Amino acid sequence: MIKKNVAIVGVTGYTGLELVRILSTHPGFAISAVTSRSLAGQALQEIYPFFQHTAYGTIPLTIPEPELVSRDSELVFLAVPHGRAMDLAASFLELGVKVVDLSADFRINDPGIYFSWYGQKHSQPGLLAKAAYGIPEIYAREIAPASITANPGCYPTSAILALYPALKNRLIKPRGIIIDSKSGTSGAGRTPKTSTLFCEVTDSFKAYNIGRHRHTPEMEQELAKACGEDLIISFSPHLVPMNRGILSTCYAELEKKISEQDIRQAYKRFYRNSPWIRIMPGGKLPETRWVRGTMFCDLGIVRDERTGRLVVVSCIDNLCRGASGQAVANANIMCGFDPQSGLDHQPVMP
Ligand SMILES: NC(=O)c1ccc[n+]([C@@H]2O[C@H](COP(=O)([O-])OP(=O)(O)OC[C@H]3O[C@@H](n4cnc5c(N)ncnc54)[C@H](OP(=O)(O)O)[C@@H]3O)[C@@H](O)[C@H]2O)c1
Repeated sequence: MIKKNVAIVGVTGYTGLELVRILSTHPGFAISAVTSRSLAGQALQEIYPFFQHTAYGTIPLTIPEPELVSRDSELVFLAVPHGRAMDLAASFLELGVKVVDLSADFRINDPGIYFSWYGQKHSQPGLLAKAAYGIPEIYAREIAPASITANPGCYPTSAILALYPALKNRLIKPRGIIIDSKSGTSGAGRTPKTSTLFCEVTDSFKAYNIGRHRHTPEMEQELAKACGEDLIISFSPHLVPMNRGILSTCYAELEKKISEQDIRQAYKRFYRNSPWIRIMPGGKLPETRWVRGTMFCDLGIVRDERTGRLVVVSCIDNLCRGASGQAVANANIMCGFDPQSGLDHQPVMP
């Protein structure tokens, strides 16, 4: 197979590094360029010695200049902060390079909602309608012809996969949904901040940004599409002292009388062609270590008899399924490869 060249803008971050890990064994993609502003000029193996003796160890980091990066690349992964990605995406598209944007810049369809949650005017509102929302299980048809895909946020990936089948099948009420999520610290990125220092995170457990986390409008937008009406969710994120992983516990009132077994069957039907979604058998709940470093989303389904609620526990790896693995799945679809190509990783246990 002739490999397609792809570039990574922001290779020194956690999602950039995860992209190199995944792409280094991908049968259809070759890494043609990687960028960093702070470490341009160095080789990848100088920053990450474990890349020595690999095909990409000696690849030099360049500045994130679209003209330079696009020279040999068909597709670019933007693994940079929101606010920066929007103009980079526009430049790459103008140069004829497809874009998978890992930031939030193209996830929110309405630029007014983007402004109210991200505090920044969108500089490329005309591109928003062109961007497919990159959850392969739901939007593969829209992703395939797209020149730009908005890779979903990590929390939204876990919550949307957990609730979409129940809303679509009208098993739950759209009102009063609660999403309670716990994330490992790599979710906050590699750029140093006091709140993610070892002593601030280890041996402790905290909630943050309750009711105002920026992933809230993204979840509301996508879950509204599932049920066909606007909805408001309560979203409570937490930081746990582990490197990778997200566990979201989602609560919703059941719409009708239905057994737990039938709910599980409805989920299995919805995800019948989705090998990355694993529905746990009755009585089993997922754990983050079972999905570590993989594309799996493990779902545990409980019908709470006493409260009349459906509780869905969803586990993903924030860097793989919640970011770079999903980005590669989207690139696979955009380039005509099997969505699973290069993404058959299994977790390292225990
Ligand atoms: N971490 C996660 O679990 C996760 C999950 C889903 C989505 N995301 C999103 O993915 C993106 C990357 O996240 P991350 O966690 O990898 O962040 P990170 O660890 O902080 O890395 C950011 C990268 O972007 C580069 N960069 C920063 N500012 C830039 C600018 N103005 N222009 C060009 N490059 C710039 C940095 O390198 P230099 O400073 O050297 O240029 C670095 O390589 C973010 O938008 C984030 O919200 C992250």
